[in-house]
Amino acid sequence: MNFIRSIYYFFRRNKKNHFKPIILITGCASGVGWALAKLLQKHKEYRVVITAREKSIPKLREGFVEDERFWILPLDVTDDSSRRSVIDQISKRWGAVNVFISNAGISYRAVVEHMSPQDEINQMNTNYIGPLELVRLILPALRNIGRGKIIAVSSVSGMLAMPTMSAYSASKHALEGAFESLWYEARPFGIDVTLIQPGFIRSNSFKNVYYTQLSDPKVSLTGDYKDFYANMTPFVEKMMELSPTNPKKVAQKILWVIKKQDPPLWVPATWDALIFYYIRRILPRRYLLPFLYFCLPKAQTWAKDVTHKRHT
Ligand SMILES: NC(=O)c1ccc[n+]([C@@H]2O[C@H](COP(=O)([O-])OP(=O)(O)OC[C@H]3O[C@@H](n4cnc5c(N)ncnc54)[C@H](OP(=O)(O)O)[C@@H]3O)[C@@H](O)[C@H]2O)c1
Repeated sequence: MNFIRSIYYFFRRNKKNHFKPIILITGCASGVGWALAKLLQKHKEYRVVITAREKSIPKLREGFVEDERFWILPLDVTDDSSRRSVIDQISKRWGAVNVFISNAGISYRAVVEHMSPQDEINQMNTNYIGPLELVRLILPALRNIGRGKIIAVSSVSGMLAMPTMSAYSASKHALEGAFESLWYEARPFGIDVTLIQPGFIRSNSFKNVYYTQLSDPKVSLTGDYKDFYANMTPFVEKMMELSPTNPKKVAQKILWVIKKQDPPLWVPATWDALIFYYIRRILPRRYLLPFLYFCLPKAQTWAKDVTHKRHT
């Protein structure tokens, strides 16, 4: 019976006049966004808008072929006119976005002391304010329709922070907080809200990390925080290299959420995300940070040349 039903749905969804939900994805020029775009290109039951900043549009045009259900548009999530223009163009050509996937993100590598207000703003604009503004543009139509999905790629950094990643953690914590509220606010309107939580992903995205004037390796590897950078940077890169989860697997997780009826708010996307979640739940708070501190590479020796630090 199920087999017959699948055949029926297969032919129905490929019929020209059958409604195909519209999916909008941000940050498709690499990593998870790219993998998700590749995956969704094969799923003919959706209309898909893949986006990237203007500078990355040629790369998207090389990697993907547009057709009547697959569309490439420039979108800088930090730019108000770019956000409005994308939603406007989609609405004119196809109608309201049914599934929004906020994937674009950047990560600063800098200790708190090395961030400037402008660096903090850049981080928050990309990972928090931009995505929330897009949600605000998309929500009214979803409320009218009475169904839809809002999905954001968050991070383990949205539940736990690491040294040299304060601004990134803050942006993902902010996203998690806002989406948790949104879950309650959208549910009565029939809209699903989900946070995909990857830990380390095996990809090259550590190469895209942003440095500040003070955290730039040219200066930071000789300053007072040199041990932090000297240990954290290779540690994060190693963890990403060793991760069994690649962007394709995260993309499959997102597709699972797109298809799932009533998906949960939190969806861990890598095995370490699940482990961190349980560590956080099981370990009493007073042991949590000392335990994680102990796990960081040579943390006990950090700053030993420059300060009479407390013995830990
Ligand atoms: N990699 C990991 O280990 C990891 C772990 C946990 C969570 N995540 C999260 O997963 C998501 C995807 O990351 P990824 O690993 O695929 O990293 P990635 O390869 O660096 O991809 C991030 C994408 O965001 C785009 N982007 C940056 N600023 C943008 C802006 N202002 N407007 C539009 N697009 C912008 C970049 O495109 P251009 O710069 O080419 O425009 C890039 O394609 C991010 O939200 C990240 O925080 C990643």
